[in-house]
Amino acid sequence: MLVDGFGRELTEIRVSLTDRCNFDCVYCHNEGLGDTRGPMAPQDEELSTEAVLRVLSVAADLDVEAVKLTGGEPMLREDLEEIVRRAPDGMEVSLTTNGSMLADRADGLVEAGLERVNVSQDAVDPEAFAEITQSGAYDQVIEGVDAALDAGLDPVKLNMVVFEGTAEYVPQLVDRVAERDGLRLQLIEYMPEIAGHPEWAVDIDRVHEWLAERADRIETREMHDRKRYFIADGDGDGEGMVEVVDPVENTDFCENCHRVRVTHDGSLKGCLNRPRVHPMGELTEAEIRAAFHEVVADRVPYYGEFMVQEDGEWVRNEEYVGERTVVEHISVRADDD
Ligand code: 5AD
Ligand code: SF4
Repeated sequence: MLVDGFGRELTEIRVSLTDRCNFDCVYCHNEGLGDTRGPMAPQDEELSTEAVLRVLSVAADLDVEAVKLTGGEPMLREDLEEIVRRAPDGMEVSLTTNGSMLADRADGLVEAGLERVNVSQDAVDPEAFAEITQSGAYDQVIEGVDAALDAGLDPVKLNMVVFEGTAEYVPQLVDRVAERDGLRLQLIEYMPEIAGHPEWAVDIDRVHEWLAERADRIETREMHDRKRYFIADGDGDGEGMVEVVDPVENTDFCENCHRVRVTHDGSLKGCLNRPRVHPMGELTEAEIRAAFHEVVADRVPYYGEFMVQEDGEWVRNEEYVGERTVVEHISVRADDD
């Protein structure tokens, strides 16, 4: 198990399988790499199937428990099912997708071993949906979500990025998850750091307040102090669950961040909000392992006062980081492959 200098264990990786996407959501941060490319653009820098599997295998050796496959749009890769099928035993595999290609492939993905799916859905109205995603695939997404539920992937999490362009649709999405069994809603605070347009941000506390009033019951989870709002449907015979993911300026969020990211072109990234990437070379097992060690050793929380000035020098803020955990360096030999 790798642990960073702030005591955060590495338990999860997000692997971007491509930076191509058939949507062009106005808010998209593309995993911190800037704009996505169109779906037809050449894919020469994308990790090969074998390279992705090698990364997963090294991660599993390092006790990483879960992988989330993402993009761009990961379903543009035809080897997605193969990657899911050949992922290391015991590693939980989930997928974040725009859902537009899910209808025909949900069954096959479940057969291959997919355990969970997040589908972006920012509106329940086709016109608003088209405006936000710059695509006309609303019906396909709805079919995709239904297919995922039919294939047994419940709970299916709907991801909604809350910003100026979507805030008015929150009540409708909340109603939808209350009415439909198997759906959950994640309201994700808009992160302006990479997507630009800070003026699009909305006050997420107001969303919490609105939910607290609307909810029939509220649970607080220990991790991140995160709340779960349960909303009864109109007939009172079911309920939907809504969570708010609010990382912006949230020191607890970064303190509980246990993930690194793999870019579509084979680099490791220790934090979504930091531009720094660490190429994994030709992607031999030894190079991948060395990169994991270095990137984890280098990880620093993004939100929070983890460094303070003392006598003109920058030092760790012990109040924020607690006791320092020493990262164990394991040397990598060239013949370690
Ligand atoms: N702010 C917050 N979340 C974002 N996502 C993409 N861009 C942003 C952003 N600027 C999230 C969406 C999408 C997932 C892949 O990343 O929820 O579903
Ligand atoms: Fe996000 Fe904070 Fe983790 Fe960076 S350190 S990826 S900002 S949660």
